[in-house]
Amino acid sequence: MCGIVAYVGKKDARALLIEGLKRLEYRGYDSAGLCLIDDGKLFVARAAGRISVLESALDEQKVPPSHIGMAHTRWATHGPPTECNAHPHLDNKGRIAIVHNGIIENYSTIKTFLSERGYIFHSETDTEVLAVLIGHFYENNLVKAVQTALREVRGTYGLAVMSAEEPETIVVARRGSPLIIGVGDDEYVVASDAAAIVEHTTQVVYLNDSEMAVITPDQFRTTTIDDTPVTKKVSEVEFSLQQIELGGYDHFMLKEIFEQPQAIEDCMRGRLDRQEGRVVLGGINQYSRDIVRTRRLIITGCGTAWHAGLVGEFLFEELAKIPTEVEYASEFRYRNPIIEDGTLVLAISQSGETADTLAALREAKDRGALSLGIVNVVGSTIARETDAGIYLHVGPEIGVASTKAFTGQIVVEILLALSIARRKYMSQTVLQEFIDALERIPDQIRQVLQQSDLIRQVAQEHARRDNWLFLGRGFNFPVALEGALKLKEISYIHAEGLPAAEMKHGPIALINPGMPAVFIATRGSQYEKLIGNIHEVRARHGKIIAVASEGDEHIHKVADHVFTVPDTIEPLQPLLTVVPLQLLAYHAAVSRGCNVDKPRNLAKSVTVE
Ligand code: G6P
Repeated sequence: MCGIVAYVGKKDARALLIEGLKRLEYRGYDSAGLCLIDDGKLFVARAAGRISVLESALDEQKVPPSHIGMAHTRWATHGPPTECNAHPHLDNKGRIAIVHNGIIENYSTIKTFLSERGYIFHSETDTEVLAVLIGHFYENNLVKAVQTALREVRGTYGLAVMSAEEPETIVVARRGSPLIIGVGDDEYVVASDAAAIVEHTTQVVYLNDSEMAVITPDQFRTTTIDDTPVTKKVSEVEFSLQQIELGGYDHFMLKEIFEQPQAIEDCMRGRLDRQEGRVVLGGINQYSRDIVRTRRLIITGCGTAWHAGLVGEFLFEELAKIPTEVEYASEFRYRNPIIEDGTLVLAISQSGETADTLAALREAKDRGALSLGIVNVVGSTIARETDAGIYLHVGPEIGVASTKAFTGQIVVEILLALSIARRKYMSQTVLQEFIDALERIPDQIRQVLQQSDLIRQVAQEHARRDNWLFLGRGFNFPVALEGALKLKEISYIHAEGLPAAEMKHGPIALINPGMPAVFIATRGSQYEKLIGNIHEVRARHGKIIAVASEGDEHIHKVADHVFTVPDTIEPLQPLLTVVPLQLLAYHAAVSRGCNVDKPRNLAKSVTVE
């Protein structure tokens, strides 16, 4: 998500840090900052916006020459992307600075502890809480203060800390968020990924979880966070910059498909309280009573977000028992919509900037609806204009075709539906069954991803076919729409997604020998009926590609190709069944030689109506 660079050496730290931040900008780019030490004093600069904004801000002030410093580019998780929330954050005495990637889960408990002792906070971030905590423990020994503070912390971090009182030292530590130390000639470059290091050195040391390093101009020392020394091996980085940014994947879309297990873990982090039997959604607390009393829910969005909304319709009706309708944002806006008392409008958008969705949201608000956002980009316009919201926390999505945002959107809808259901009627036992099932999802997606090679072969076999059908029922009907959209977007193959039973009312006329028909045929309440639909296509010599449940032997008798997904409870199935369809679209596009990450005529964020 966010990016960190730190430097100790002989070169001009400012130039090197800015260059490093630019290399990491693809990871997060809503605000940035840096910290240098000169003459025993900290110099800190921060700016909202891209790295270039920070650069211009530095050009306008007197920046002290320095050979030690650290910098950060932020992808906001706590608080909007303002200058005040940008890193570095300082302790209350302004002598300790920190840059941090990850999420401190128990930051509010620590904040209360510190506030009770008179400490004050200037930002809304979890990181500032950690800076102040380190300051609280600091007694002229930065390493000790960092170690003591980290023992109190739950959550994930990759971090770098400096103190004005120890001007030759940077302390770095990692748990769950990568940190790499580049070992050059008379210099060290630390970064959250190798992209910021390789132009200086190819010799690197990878920190493992719960390890830290103390770096000074002549050496670095590695220990565990509990201060046990660890000997590290220096390895050689062999990738090009482009490959590193892509983490070894050929395209961002593929990388983002494979990031889904981690993205979903990040999305759920700190939100499922098994012990208390509740779902914790801090962003909507203020309106939780109104939300539980909702009489009608309208979900709005565009493209993939609209499909996530369609899954939501099933979820909110089935779990939260709220009558729900899903509207294309572009249509809702011009339809003179009726908003009655008790209507809740839910706007779904990865970017938070889509013009149609924003216009629909404004229309709904003008007519008196309570509005919630499910948005990925923190501080985006939709996030700011909704009354309250829940962020996806799935990290930046760069490929134009949305993948991890889709599964993130569904996870958030499930969490919201469960939190309402629990407050209305759902027992703790049933909620816990959902929590168990949700917690299994990341590993189950990992299993699905292992079929990528098989999916590639099937995609290659059929990629020259210009017309495809995608069919599903119930919770998997929106997944069929999403599968068709993915294929259209990046491979330019014409594809239609349908509820499987609708096929016989028209589209069946399209089927000719060899036409690929993708069925989502997992075990569930409509399985038998779906098998009937498969027979209808087979009878017309269409090619059946099925996404089926593991262990379903029968499906092999009726399908030409089978991709499997592990069993889960029916409302969670879309989180698994969409993954083979994302891969199918990806491999079909690659096989047709299309530009996967930048498909023709499309934009990642459509800010025109
Ligand atoms: C564009 C993109 C789609 C995306 C849609 C909504 O059309 O090409 O992939 O689903 O916008 O974007 P949003 O950022 O609002 O989720």
